[in-house]
Amino acid sequence: MCGIIGYIGNKPANDVIFDGLTRLEYRGYDSAGIAVIDEGAIHVRKDIGKLRNIRRLLVDDFASSSSIGIGHTRWATHGRPSAFNAHPHGDCISSIMVAHNGIIENFMKLKKRLSDEGHEFKSETDSEVLAHLIESNYRGDFRQAVLDALKHVEGAYAIAVIHQKHPDEIVCIRKESPLIVGLGIEENFVASDVTAILQYTRQVVYLDNFEGAVVRRDGISFFNITGASVEKKAVQVDWNPVAAEKGGFSHFMLKEIFEQPQVIRNTIGGRTSEEEGKIYLEELKLTGPDIYRTQRIVIVACGTAYYAGCVGKYLIEKLVQIPVECDLASEFRYRSPLVDANTLVIAISQSGETADTLAAVKEAKSRKAKVLGIVNAKESSLTREVDGLVYIHAGPEIGVASTKAYIAMLTALTLLALMLGKIRSVLNSEFVKEKIKELKILPQQIERVLEKHDQIRELASIYKHARSFLYLGRGFNYPTALEGALKLKEISYIHAEAYAAGEMKHGPIALIDDQMPVMAIVTQSDVYDKTLSNLKEVQARSGCLIAIVTEGDSEIRHMTDHVIELPAVSDILSPIINVIPLQLFAYFVADLRGLDVDQPRNLAKSVTVE
Ligand code: M6R
Repeated sequence: MCGIIGYIGNKPANDVIFDGLTRLEYRGYDSAGIAVIDEGAIHVRKDIGKLRNIRRLLVDDFASSSSIGIGHTRWATHGRPSAFNAHPHGDCISSIMVAHNGIIENFMKLKKRLSDEGHEFKSETDSEVLAHLIESNYRGDFRQAVLDALKHVEGAYAIAVIHQKHPDEIVCIRKESPLIVGLGIEENFVASDVTAILQYTRQVVYLDNFEGAVVRRDGISFFNITGASVEKKAVQVDWNPVAAEKGGFSHFMLKEIFEQPQVIRNTIGGRTSEEEGKIYLEELKLTGPDIYRTQRIVIVACGTAYYAGCVGKYLIEKLVQIPVECDLASEFRYRSPLVDANTLVIAISQSGETADTLAAVKEAKSRKAKVLGIVNAKESSLTREVDGLVYIHAGPEIGVASTKAYIAMLTALTLLALMLGKIRSVLNSEFVKEKIKELKILPQQIERVLEKHDQIRELASIYKHARSFLYLGRGFNYPTALEGALKLKEISYIHAEAYAAGEMKHGPIALIDDQMPVMAIVTQSDVYDKTLSNLKEVQARSGCLIAIVTEGDSEIRHMTDHVIELPAVSDILSPIINVIPLQLFAYFVADLRGLDVDQPRNLAKSVTVE
């Protein structure tokens, strides 16, 4: 969603801020803007459209020697995408500029009051009230004006503010929306996420809720919402800046698909002992009694992370024999869920900033459940809310369509299920040893699937004009079908629906004709024969069938139009490998349709609003 960057240092602020904004593009946006302080005046440039199209306005024609400023990419919530609604927003006399992420819930009331006092508004946004509130509270102390303004505000915010009369500082503060401060040499940064500044510094301070900073060239002072000083420690971010580059691939999504073998190695790395048949998840912080006391597990997540959770349900019920419910975080939070101190809630999120998932976690905690996070982004908001963690170590995921984070979530869930199953004596060491061995060879098997990219591209070129797709899977691979359909619809804009194969005859079979391609996951498993029968029902109605099968399956060939063969793996690991051709298929369809694969329309990478 929206992105913020602030810079103060010795380089041209325009260039650094524009560069930071381009690295925030992946979050999704419809407009962007930059404000700098130059020779005692504030200069603002903003417009709708992609950064490459407004670069001239923001940088090339914006000759400035300024070395302090703020920038923003906006994903419209309050007010349509337009130059007026783009950030930064100013006060009546443009002496203050604010870049804001989040939502000011009482903005209507504040806007009315400020308008009655004579303030003139230029946009339809909630964010603009912040600039006017700071203006009306300013008595010469910039930081205090920001703090006094925020006393009137309800909602979520991460803000970076500059003031014409204070050309040597950026004031920033957060509540609920994430914000970080980056430490350089004679230069410092503010950003909504670390990817914006990775190329300049990896020394970062993560602000907690209600914490802020006055950021100067030569130092930073941290404070809380009451104005009291707080001590903050910088941490060294271990994400490599190169990981946030395309590295020769035409899109981040393709690069991230190809990174998946290494991602699995990283997720497993140092967490297994093949000799002893043991799994070590150090940040888990669940004690033996916690694990024995658990009578029920509830998984909460959104989108792709939710589908990972659905696989988690199959894994945990099979390997740990505890009942598991997987719930959409946006539903869980509003349905008075039945969780208590004997329930373990597992929240899964790539970004760790998804508003619905964070709210579901708060709901679970208020009902005394233990909460475990399966998270990619270090130090994200979710990591601070949970009792224990399993980091998935996928590295920065830039493509809006999640791929490598999904694979890493599945790997982490497999490790977790094996560990819990062993501790609760459902599994013996031999079984765990065997699965660790299989997990370790999985990356090579996935490399063999990735080599089939030309075959999958060819298939994509045949089906790129399809109007609708049906995805079918059963058991462990029903969620794979759901995830495959999500990938196709979000980047190619082709309608795709997924069903449990056995459910097809209860309704969706009515859709089958020679215009409805069916993507079926029918690799060897306990439900192979059952799935095959379901596919015969498709064949009998002239449906075009693409089947994801296990290498050497001769039975299925004569009844399908196309097959994609995958190496044989055990049932519990099959979702990790089976989704790879579906990711590639969606990618190639979208690319062949000439679409913006990495930043699909209407989507944001991290959904920080309800
Ligand atoms: O950051 P999160 O994992 O919490 O994000 C959850 C969903 O918003 C995300 O998976 C979304 O569905 C992606 N666009 C899927 O590709």
